[in-house]
This record gives sequence, C-alpha cells and structure tokens, in this order.
Amino acid sequence: MKKGDKIELDITGYAYEGKGISKIDFETEDSEKDNLNKFVVFVNGSYPGDKVKASIKKKKSRYAEAIVDEILVPSPHRIEAKCNYFNYCGGCKAQDLNYETQLKYKEEQVREVFEKLGGFSDFESLPIFASEKIFFYRNKMEFSFADKRWLTPDELNNDKIENRNFALGLHIPRIFDKVLDIEECWLQSEASNKILNFTREFFRKRDVSIYSTKTHEGFLRNLIIKTAHHTNDLMVNLVTSSENEELLKEFSDQIIAQIPEITTVINNVNLKKSQTAIGDFEKVYFGEGFIFDVIGGFKFRISANSFFQTNTLQAENLYETAKEFADLKGDEIIYDLYSGAGTISIFVSKNAKMVFGFESVDPAVADAKVNAEINNIKNVRFFTANLDKSFLSIIKEKNTPKPDLIIADPPRSGMNPKTVSDILTLKPKKIVYVSCNPSTQARDIKVLIENGYKLIKSRAVDMFPHTYHIENVALLEII
Ligand SMILES: C[S@@+](CC[C@H](N)C(=O)[O-])C[C@H]1O[C@@H](n2cnc3c(N)ncnc32)[C@H](O)[C@@H]1O
Repeated sequence: MKKGDKIELDITGYAYEGKGISKIDFETEDSEKDNLNKFVVFVNGSYPGDKVKASIKKKKSRYAEAIVDEILVPSPHRIEAKCNYFNYCGGCKAQDLNYETQLKYKEEQVREVFEKLGGFSDFESLPIFASEKIFFYRNKMEFSFADKRWLTPDELNNDKIENRNFALGLHIPRIFDKVLDIEECWLQSEASNKILNFTREFFRKRDVSIYSTKTHEGFLRNLIIKTAHHTNDLMVNLVTSSENEELLKEFSDQIIAQIPEITTVINNVNLKKSQTAIGDFEKVYFGEGFIFDVIGGFKFRISANSFFQTNTLQAENLYETAKEFADLKGDEIIYDLYSGAGTISIFVSKNAKMVFGFESVDPAVADAKVNAEINNIKNVRFFTANLDKSFLSIIKEKNTPKPDLIIADPPRSGMNPKTVSDILTLKPKKIVYVSCNPSTQARDIKVLIENGYKLIKSRAVDMFPHTYHIENVALLEII
C-alpha cells in the first residue's frame, strides 16, 4: 500500500475526531516473521457499516490515512444531511449520521480514551446526556471575512458567480486564507442567518476592504452573533482592524432597521496581527453592549468577549451533572477553576458555604461579579488569575480557606501541569473535572490518580450535536 492507492475498505470502527476505522491484515515492516498484524486505516468521511472506495493520503508503518472517494454500501445509520454546505464546511461533520448513533459513538469514545490513554478501568461510566435541540442549538457563531472566496466545485464552473473576492462565512477545514460564503447555517437561529446576509451585502455594496492575513491590511475581520435562548437578546459584534465611526454608525442604524430583533451592536477593534476575534477595545453602537441569558433559573450577563457555554439549554444539564457529582451538603468551600462568567460558581452557590472562582480574562471576571450581584448571590468571590502561573499565590494573597471541592473546567488544552500540581498541594476531598477534550482530561486525571485520587465516575454531556466535539464530566475522590 502506498500514498495515492485506491482501495476498497469495510469500516468497522469509529475513531476520535470523527474518522471511520478499517482494519486489514498486513505484514508491517517491523513485524516479526510470520506475525500478521492488523494495519489500521483511518478513513475521513466514513462510518462503521460503510463499505467504501478510498484514496490513501498518508502511509506510515502501522497505519494509513485515507479519504472516501465513493460509498459502495452505506452504513444503515446514515441519513440525509440538511445543510447545503455539508460536504465542504466541516462544521457539522456528522450531520449525515443519525443522532442516536452519534451519541453512541461519543459515549464509546470517552470510554476508550479513558481506558486506553488513561488506563482507567474501575470507574462508573454513565450514559451520555443527549441534547434536546439538535439544530439551532448554538448561542454564538463566529464568521470570518475573506478577500478570497472558497468556491464549491459547482460554483467554480458557474460563470454567473460574482463576488469572488468578497466572502463572509466559515473557513473550510485546513484552508485558512479562503472562506466559504454561508447564507444559511443550521446551528444558530433564523435571525442569525438574516444578520449574516445583511452584513455581507452591506459591506460588499460599499466595497469595504477585508483584512488580509498576508499583508495585514484591510478593515473587516469577523462577525460574531450571540443569541439568548431564554430572553430575546441578540448581539451583533463586528470585529475590524481599526475604527471607522461613520461607517459603523450607518451599519448599526441600518441593521437595526432591517432586523429589529437585534438588541445590541458592538464594534471590537482588533489591532493585532493574530486571527483572534477578540478586540483590543470595543465600542457600543446600539443597546447595552451585552446580552442576558438564563441557566438553571439564574440570569447571566454575557459580554462580547467572555466565554459562555455555546449550547445554553444543554449547559443546564452539564452543570446539573457537575452538581450531582459533587453531591453537595451545603457546608463546602468550593474553588471553581476557569470560571468564565461565573456560571458554575453561581449555579452551585446555593448548595455550598462559599465559592471562589478563578479566571484569566478580565471582562469575564467583571461579568461574573455582575452576575453574582444580579442574582443576589452573596457567597461567591471572583478573582482574575492566570492559573498556569499564579494560583497558589493568589490564594495566599486573598487568604481564601482551603477547598473541600475543586471544580475545574479548562479549555481544550486541559490543565497546565503546574495547576495539576497546585491542586495536589491543596488536596481537596473531591474534584469534579468538566472538559471539552477527553484526551487532555484523561492525561490530567492520570496524574491525579498517580498522586492519591480515585476516578469514581464519568458522564459525557452532548453539547455539540453533529460535531465530533465531546464534553465530559468526571468525579475524583481522594483515597
Ligand atoms: C471551557 S471555559 C469554561 C468557563 C466556565 N466554567 C463556563 O462553564 O462557562 C474555560 C475558561 O478558562 C479560561 N482560561 C483559559 N486559560 C486560563 C488560565 N490559564 N487561567 C485561568 N483561566 C483560564 C477561559 O478564559 C475560559 O473562560
């Protein structure tokens, strides 16, 4: 087998990050004489039960990577994808797989990562929590402007397609300088699609320049839309490379007139070369500059740049799972690490003595403090802290009591080794680890287990239907 070969494969397994697995008998270069090994092919775009014709893209001694050219026999779990951009966008890679099977694979993947990567065997693995909404579930969408539009094969051959140098939509996998123009996305709301299309037309008609990642010149960078599920709040946040008050005022006035559901319009100005959608400063053109939403009966203020769980309805089930795992008696001191806008701290506050939240992003900490205030919660405190550097020193400086329970909800990269070591110094009786990446979660849990903790149980909560992303909650107790 070599790169470029086309072969027929039966898909029998499903790997983390949404690739089908085919195992074939193959004598590898380093296998012992007469010892036949299973050679693994990871096949992008396939599911267990498929028989496919695939092209080999990469070949190593024990495995290969391939992409599907043709589905010869489809898996019985395949369904028709709803989205027009399904084959290109990559955002909802599993939209052509029925939801029940998506859930089954996610559940199996967490178990596999925990067993194989972590070596954990003796723990309770609870059934995955399904998402009630599987379309229009996101409360935040981040679109990009690009001066190169990525065209689908049909569009490439269509002479009538204009505007090849102006796109507002989503990046397709592995292509960073071009953007697929999106007119209808199934992830957010109908109003979000209206905002997206209005914004594209508004700036295209005026021939406004687009920021180029190569020359670092141009004005338009991103469009971020935030929607509340329980209130009618709707935020439009335009990210640009500089200020242009006159143009932004006109944009704001016109978009509000056209889409009256919008409650706030903001301009984030990002002066940096890096492609983050977070501005160095922001200017509010309409409304309050933030939106409010509700989780578990608590009201939360959400700014343009503070983290908020993207599936609001399912966030309640995620936090409920974390609270259930914590099994609070009411007298606990809790540390909420990576506390964002304070949502978990506030959610568990009624069942604890005191909760201390630690978070590195200033606007998120400011939101957390406001959130405690508007919910009239008196037993929470929030600190700005980069946990990779200054966790124990802040605890010492603020003289906070030792925690009985630590809830940690880090970003995809997991916890910094120093943070894990600081947790071990603090020795809480329980740790509830919420993660959007079971691999880094397993890596960190392994260190905790090697240093006196036991993994008790784990439960995945599906926050991201149709994607391969998995959210997982784990409970550890000190031995
Ligand atoms: C997955 S979010 C969780 C937020 C919150 N627990 C929630 O449920 O909305 C991770 C948070 O960690 C914060 N963060 C990332 N690195 C950090 C660090 N080194 N120290 C403190 N906070 C950090 C991010 O700003 C973000 O708010």
